[in-house]
Amino acid sequence: MSDLFKKKIETLREKVKKYNHAYYVLSDPIISDEEFDKLLKEIEELEKQHPEFITSDSPTKRVGSDISNIFNSVEHSIPMLSLANTYNSQELLDFDRRCREGLSANSKVEYTAELKIDGVSISINYKNGLLVEAATRGDGVSGEDVTNNIRTIKSIPLSINISQNSEIKDFYVRGEIFMPIAGFNRMNELRKLNDEKLFANPRNSTAGSIKLLDSREVAKRPLDVFIYSLISSESGNTSQWKNLQLLKDLGFKINPFTKLCKNIGEVLEFCKYWESKRDELPYEIDGVVVKVNSIDQQNGLGNIAKSPRWAVAYKFKAKQTKTKLREITWQVGRTGALTPVAELEPVFLAGSTISRATLHNIEEIQRKDIREGDTVLIEKGGDVIPKVSLVVLEERDKDSVETKIPENCPICNSKLFQPESEVNIYCENFYCDAQVKGRLEHFAGRNALDIEGLGTALVEILVDLKVLSDVSDIYTLHKKRDDLITIERMGEKSVDNLIKAIEQSKEKPFHKVLFGLGIRYVGAGAAQKITQSLNTIEKLRTASAERIEEIKEIGPSISNSIIRFFKDDKNKALVERLEKAGLNFESEIVEAVTTKLSGKSFVLTGTLSLMGRNEAKSKIENCGGKVVSSVSAKTDYVVAGEKAGSKLEKAQKLEVEILSETEFIELLESINV
Ligand code: IVH
Repeated sequence: MSDLFKKKIETLREKVKKYNHAYYVLSDPIISDEEFDKLLKEIEELEKQHPEFITSDSPTKRVGSDISNIFNSVEHSIPMLSLANTYNSQELLDFDRRCREGLSANSKVEYTAELKIDGVSISINYKNGLLVEAATRGDGVSGEDVTNNIRTIKSIPLSINISQNSEIKDFYVRGEIFMPIAGFNRMNELRKLNDEKLFANPRNSTAGSIKLLDSREVAKRPLDVFIYSLISSESGNTSQWKNLQLLKDLGFKINPFTKLCKNIGEVLEFCKYWESKRDELPYEIDGVVVKVNSIDQQNGLGNIAKSPRWAVAYKFKAKQTKTKLREITWQVGRTGALTPVAELEPVFLAGSTISRATLHNIEEIQRKDIREGDTVLIEKGGDVIPKVSLVVLEERDKDSVETKIPENCPICNSKLFQPESEVNIYCENFYCDAQVKGRLEHFAGRNALDIEGLGTALVEILVDLKVLSDVSDIYTLHKKRDDLITIERMGEKSVDNLIKAIEQSKEKPFHKVLFGLGIRYVGAGAAQKITQSLNTIEKLRTASAERIEEIKEIGPSISNSIIRFFKDDKNKALVERLEKAGLNFESEIVEAVTTKLSGKSFVLTGTLSLMGRNEAKSKIENCGGKVVSSVSAKTDYVVAGEKAGSKLEKAQKLEVEILSETEFIELLESINV
């Protein structure tokens, strides 16, 4: 009976796999969405009845799970190299000459020309034909384990059809995860409706998506992939071109425009063609990757430092366009620094309409002599925010006047000052509305106290209504519930949610509070290091500059800024008010255990019921150790919780030291953690 069930599930799964491939990889659907959903439901139902038949490559595994991801580090078996860039034909010709000269005389060199997809690279490991692990590039040597999230991308096969090509079962593929432009725009529109922060471009939203903690959320993001390389000792292939064909046969999605070029001339033609046609593609590309086709020749040329001698990126020029600069306005940030902004005649460039561009600082304006009324060239490079690259002087109006540095704050009219050795000018009024709003927004932001609902728009209203004048006022908002409800678009439910979020912010760790205070130069990372060493506000308030600088990676600009902050009575009083409100000004982690596990690598497997994985991971890392996701001979310890499976077996085989959860806790205690 159960055999029958097993067969049935397997047949259904095969069908779904085929339809999935047709839809997501070949873009050539065979059945309707409804039929597809029906099939999937049927599998789900059968798996519910017979959980013993659930497999890791079942299509039901693509929806993500509610287990919060922890991104263990994964060492790449072969480093993920980066590419040298070329920017014009001459540099490409030089690359070709170096390749030919590097090989035996008169070698003919063929190249593959591949579109350089602007996304995030990924390395995926298949064992016995099954997807077992996916990792980000990281620093090229090791990346982060994002397997659960990658599984949700439908164009990535969870298993290949071994019978189709029985030679190849254990291998790595590498490729680029990206978000098609249409999907990106749709997602941003939805985010706008929900008052969520917008992503600047498809690349950023791809990077953000694959690092989400909740893989069910990732499943909702319109991610896609192009696989561009195969690493296998089994294929016997002699060229990149053949590897790409094999990848296609195995069910992977490869880019259809890749061209096998007989010589560098054909490569140049390909580059020129796509530089002019890039806007017609449904995804973003930022250049062409040129690779020596023959694997023998690749091996002959080898690598230098972090990039191969046999491949190069041809980068397209930044997209530019002309428009008129209507006005220069000045934005005041939370530190009081003024940033000039170019208000432009709206113009369409690289997928979006641009009406503002940053001018960085006064020096930039002076250097480029940018004036109101000028015709300017703006560009969208790798950066998110467009910038003014130059002024078209021939089109300048003869009456135009040089841009003047403002003398008063455009918001509060206070005097401005320019500290020596700084390019920025500042508003000196600590209570300037723009600074107050900036500080509140920073405090409530994602990396600080993360108070959902207290975003730019509400901060603006509450400051204007004089309900908020500093961050401690946030903790009195619950007393003003009735007033808040009367604010347009607020309503009872959102006010109650806001009050709840404010209450929850009191649970946030000390380092987030410290970061939230917005002390100059104290970024999120520095705040974390500081609170691990000076773990109470009292210790921090009274620490000398020398003491603060004893902390790893903390230098004099940070220490002086902290001392200056606590010298100011306003700040002292503010911290006291926040302490009274119940915020967390103490951290659990104390110094002195930081290096005891340095160089040691741990694998956590099974359920850790006493401590939990996240806590175990952070304890190990706080002591200088590393948590990796797969067991190898180099692993120092495997911590095996309940129901530990294959990783435990592998550890036994490789004779890696195995610790039970209690033994692991004992180990931590022995080094005073
Ligand atoms: S090959 C040694 N091929 O561009 C080979 N990379 O700096 C290294 N990329 O990190 C990569 N499309 O994220 C290769 N067809 C393609 C690519 C590609 C996009 C990205 C990749 C890599 C970066 C190169």
